[in-house]
Amino acid sequence: MKHKSVLLQEVLAHLSPKEGEVFIDATIGFGGHAEAILRAIGPKGTLLGLDQDQEAVDWLKANLAPKYPNLIIEKANFSQISEIADRNGLNLASGILADIGVSSYQLDQPERGFSFRENGPLDMRMDKDQELTAEKVLAECSERDLVQIFQNYGEERLSKTVAKDIVARRKQNPLRTTKDLADLVELAYQRKGLKKGKIHPATRVFQALRIEVNDELGSLEKFLPQAIDLLATDGRLGVIMFHSLEDRIVKQYFQKEARGCICPPEIPKCQCGHEKRVKILTKKPITASKEELNENPRSRSAKLRVIQKIK
Ligand SMILES: C[S@@+](CC[C@H](N)C(=O)[O-])C[C@H]1O[C@@H](n2cnc3c(N)ncnc32)[C@H](O)[C@@H]1O
Repeated sequence: MKHKSVLLQEVLAHLSPKEGEVFIDATIGFGGHAEAILRAIGPKGTLLGLDQDQEAVDWLKANLAPKYPNLIIEKANFSQISEIADRNGLNLASGILADIGVSSYQLDQPERGFSFRENGPLDMRMDKDQELTAEKVLAECSERDLVQIFQNYGEERLSKTVAKDIVARRKQNPLRTTKDLADLVELAYQRKGLKKGKIHPATRVFQALRIEVNDELGSLEKFLPQAIDLLATDGRLGVIMFHSLEDRIVKQYFQKEARGCICPPEIPKCQCGHEKRVKILTKKPITASKEELNENPRSRSAKLRVIQKIK
């Protein structure tokens, strides 16, 4: 299996796909959630699936599309969801799912450069058509920008030291492989006399770089308002997140759209004209059951938040 879908039953229960409905899977990956939705909507329904990774799209076209003529697959970033839906003649959906982040398949391919467990090029692009790679970020960003990336996207406590070491190292010899970077971070920890914790010292630096290379937070911010616009009344949007930065963006956006006036409290009369558009269906995010945690350790950090459009 290429990827084990997380929170599958929870997604079905909360998005409740029904016969004949239009659904969008904004991160279709290897189609685990999508196939369950396709079964529920039946041949009269339509599922539009997006992924920015050509490998996932090719796999789906060969393996899932032949079974489901009502599945439309597009290689695209979900930050362009409106345009893609429009191009396919879909202007209202009963449900939209985004299961964001990387797939296990992407993580497990050393040549994609997402993981330090095996050596590979410092790539980290989900969309291989884009120019920016992790190697480019490490070679071209200023020391200050590197510090910001490691701090903001990785909450890395040695951000300054690691950024400084990268800049010193690249003057002699550019960082080209995941091992080059993992060793550099490990050395920084050793020099500071910091003991190895449960996770590898390079984990946060790798996460930060991946977020930067793929503009993960920027894409998410562009996706959310478009997804709500695309929902029919009573339609549902579910987002599965794997780290706190994404969770904060989704939670705050959902809260904002679930409120009417968003003027600051000191303004006596509403000037914003903001209207409540959604109802939050998950006061607290849904997390994996004990059974799922036992079966799939990757589900440990997954959180699902769901809203329903009211108008
Ligand atoms: C966790 S996997 C999805 C797995 C899928 N739900 C399944 O059941 O097989 C995440 C997928 O989202 C894709 N992805 C991440 N960010 C994206 C974005 N901004 N636009 C489009 N696809 C994205 C990745 O390429 C990856 O294939």
